[in-house]
Amino acid sequence: MPVQAVCTVAEAVRLNEFAYSFTLEAPALAAAISGPGQFVHIKCGHSRLLRRPISICDWDGETLRIVFEVRGEGTAWLARRSAGDRLDVLGPLGQGFRMARGEKLLLVGGGIGVPPMLGCAKYAGGSASAVLGFRAADRAMLLEAFEENCKAVSLCSDDGTLGVKGFVDALVCEWLEKEKDFTSVLACGPRPMLRAVARAAARYGVPCQVSMEERMACGVGACLGCAIQMADGTIKHVCKDGPVFAAEEVDWND
Ligand SMILES: Cc1cc2nc3c(=O)[nH]c(=O)nc-3n(C[C@H](O)[C@H](O)[C@H](O)COP(=O)(O)OP(=O)(O)OC[C@H]3O[C@@H](n4cnc5c(N)ncnc54)[C@H](O)[C@@H]3O)c2cc1C
Ligand code: FES
Repeated sequence: MPVQAVCTVAEAVRLNEFAYSFTLEAPALAAAISGPGQFVHIKCGHSRLLRRPISICDWDGETLRIVFEVRGEGTAWLARRSAGDRLDVLGPLGQGFRMARGEKLLLVGGGIGVPPMLGCAKYAGGSASAVLGFRAADRAMLLEAFEENCKAVSLCSDDGTLGVKGFVDALVCEWLEKEKDFTSVLACGPRPMLRAVARAAARYGVPCQVSMEERMACGVGACLGCAIQMADGTIKHVCKDGPVFAAEEVDWND
């Protein structure tokens, strides 16, 4: 059940030139999280601005952590907050990844889709491997945390300044070729990346779940702002029915 709470920023850290990590004191919200992949809807600034959806990166009994990059007015306002400031937060929202502790998972994150995969890695308890892709080395984040919480981590970047030069789907194919017993591929990132990862998983017959990013308004299924086309011709709300869907449910051609 979502909770609306005024949360204090316990820690605000800059991870690189572009990304910020906030730890929020949010016991009621943290207690309501059902698993990795859910998100919170944060009021960013004055009332004219809508809330902004940000994935839950990690949580414990008292706090939850978000990691975000500045894209526009809302996230720029958020980035100017510091420890001790208070935020109006609604959450946890949406349906997260369906996974069990101890499963042999391949986690795939691209860019700002990387943070929620850390929650998956921690929830899996060290049994997952991760493929992480960034535009360039200066965008990399959370690498130590993934090393600590995964069996193995493979890195790539668009320009070759970090790990292998290229996109995550090539590394996903390498992993699925090498090890045949992954139970699922879980992915978060830009839509073209998700489409490519979904195709790679399908080629190897491994179930795949994807966390979709759509613009959102209400965040709770009341406005159609985040509707996406599904493969069976129906429309679903990313905020309420997702953001995580089975890859084969999504109409990748829309
Ligand atoms: C379920 C979900 C989880 C998310 N998790 C994170 C996260 O963990 N960290 C993070 O940094 N960002 C995350 N995002 C994206 C984040 O919500 C947007 O970057 C933010 O809303 C932009 O708000 P703004 O006011 O700064 O920019 P705006 O001025 O609203 O937009 C700036 C630019 O970003 C584009 N944009 C805005 N929202 C989205 C969106 N949802 N998808 C694609 N493009 C968008 C706009 O078209 C525009 O070009 C998530 C989005 C969703 C839907
Ligand atoms: S954002 Fe309003 S229905 Fe999803």
